[in-house]
Amino acid sequence: MDSDLSLDFLRVVEQAAIACAQTMGQGDRHKSDQVAVEAMRREMDSVPIDGTIVIGEGERDEAPMLFIGEKVGMAHRAPNGRVFPQVDIAVDPLEGTNLCATGAPNAIAVLAASEHGGLLHAPDLYMEKLVVGPSSKDVVDLDAPVRFNLRAIAQALGRRVEDLVVIVLDRPRHAQLVDEIRSTGARIRLIGDGDLSAGIAAAVVGSGVHAVMGIGGAPEGVLTAAAMRCLNGEILARLVVSTPEHEERCRAMGITDVKRVYRAKDLASGERLIFAATGVTDGALMRGVRFFGDGTRTTSLIMQTHPHQIRFIDSIQVNTQKDVRIRF
Ligand code: FBP
Repeated sequence: MDSDLSLDFLRVVEQAAIACAQTMGQGDRHKSDQVAVEAMRREMDSVPIDGTIVIGEGERDEAPMLFIGEKVGMAHRAPNGRVFPQVDIAVDPLEGTNLCATGAPNAIAVLAASEHGGLLHAPDLYMEKLVVGPSSKDVVDLDAPVRFNLRAIAQALGRRVEDLVVIVLDRPRHAQLVDEIRSTGARIRLIGDGDLSAGIAAAVVGSGVHAVMGIGGAPEGVLTAAAMRCLNGEILARLVVSTPEHEERCRAMGITDVKRVYRAKDLASGERLIFAATGVTDGALMRGVRFFGDGTRTTSLIMQTHPHQIRFIDSIQVNTQKDVRIRF
């Protein structure tokens, strides 16, 4: 996969973010999601790839666009004999639909891309997750008691357990987890949604986040894994498979060992990964979309494994021919 595609994918997430940011605070999460999906789908066809959506908005019969298996990219828009690279793509056009609908922080538009076969085809189930940054990646264990993991993370970071900040999705299913974390003295940030941006923050030194724990979406887990591969962080994860129907859905996606503990390299195994995200609402690492009359300003995070680089990108789309003024 050509590394130059990173700027094409940047455009895709920027356009999705701009579209849904216009609906921020309108209280309609479905509308916010829909406009992000439409914008991302539109932009995707200008990317010079023979792309396949492997994680998207759902199965073909439940999602009109960006469904699993959908072909995207220039190869499918106007086939003219030109050969394009085969690329698998995981998308979440709006991660944090409620966050956008209520104007809360950390909504992002996001995708990950890999050469064919480099992203796990995860069913839309829940997943147990433990996400940490580079210093702690070899000292945690998904099956270890919470206090053991927090002690290990604290030691790896050279600080007290009481100094750690752990992000947990604020859900009834996490009551026991939260009690266990509290009993160690570690600090907790409960979030309404968005364990993907939380995971990215945990892998960036200086973000003030040291781990993400708990159960969230499996698709977000695969996207987190792609980000971890670029940031040298780690995600330990296991699908939550509790019914025969869940098992069947896993089997249909080629997953036979439903109890497997995955690491970032298993969920996002590609050699050449690209991860692209644009802030929709303000967040720890990216600002939200700003509309300033003459244009639109976005901040994005574009990361890739080959060449290995992490870029924080501040873009301004100018919408007018007028005497526009750009502020630093
Ligand atoms: P949406 O973008 O689909 O609203 O999902 C946001 C999210 O909070 C994810 O970050 C998280 O992994 C998942 O939902 C948790 O699911 P649930 O809301 O069912 O607990």
